[in-house]
Amino acid sequence: MDNRPIGIFDSGVGGLSAVRVLLETAANERFVYFGDTARVPYGDRTAEDIKALSRQDARFLRTKDVKALLIACNTITANALPEIQADSGEIPVIGVVEPAAQAAAAATKTGRIGLIATNATVRSGVYERAVARLLPAAQVTAQGCPRLVPLIESGHTQAGDPALMEAAEEYLRPLREAGVDTVILGCTHYPLIAGAVGQLMGPDVRLIDSGGASIGALLAALEERDALADPSAPGGQAYYCSARREDFVSVAAAFLGRDIGALTETVEIENY
Ligand code: DGL
Repeated sequence: MDNRPIGIFDSGVGGLSAVRVLLETAANERFVYFGDTARVPYGDRTAEDIKALSRQDARFLRTKDVKALLIACNTITANALPEIQADSGEIPVIGVVEPAAQAAAAATKTGRIGLIATNATVRSGVYERAVARLLPAAQVTAQGCPRLVPLIESGHTQAGDPALMEAAEEYLRPLREAGVDTVILGCTHYPLIAGAVGQLMGPDVRLIDSGGASIGALLAALEERDALADPSAPGGQAYYCSARREDFVSVAAAFLGRDIGALTETVEIENY
């Protein structure tokens, strides 16, 4: 048993979609969350930049004596997972891509899978490779959606929001035309707009929450190391962001259904 916290990070508020599932599944676990709200979005940066920024994010969380790291960001998983694993030594580092690809492969009936993600995730081709290993005949239609993360970070998350619906319609149309039966929300920000995506794709299309899917893999990795928290432990949460604390707390309140203001601090991430 290990009651130390889990470190969870993302470029911004998106990783809260993984936090929500962790709170529902294993409330006895402690965690420290970091969202790099000063430097979001990562999705239009080069792979080199994404590696440099995210290695700094992980370094900050390792100062919190974490027992594991969850990269609750597809863009970072797609571009920097091996580097962060190498930096972290014995600490297990779990990404979101493989668990989401597994969930999509299990969900699809037709083998036609849609992917919406940042440009940096789409460009990496990780999802096509992961799905092809699991379901060689599957066809992945991938769409980069650069306008969605800035909209979500600034609070445009409600289905019906005109700016959100216009952008989402442009990105989802090719997926509807391809006749996909499953859509991977290949950016952890997108569960925050699942209502809008669901409305535009229709009720028969399954949406895969990549952050949520990763929680099973995280808990399995801890169990394998006998490092789950004591079942009777009270859990505990701490949140850090690197800028715009008020926006972070307000998007979090809408998404997690709780006020995390008293639990949230700002960190100078450039110092790590
Ligand atoms: N939430 C991140 C992801 O899953 C991306 C956000 C960004 O572009 O910074 O890819």
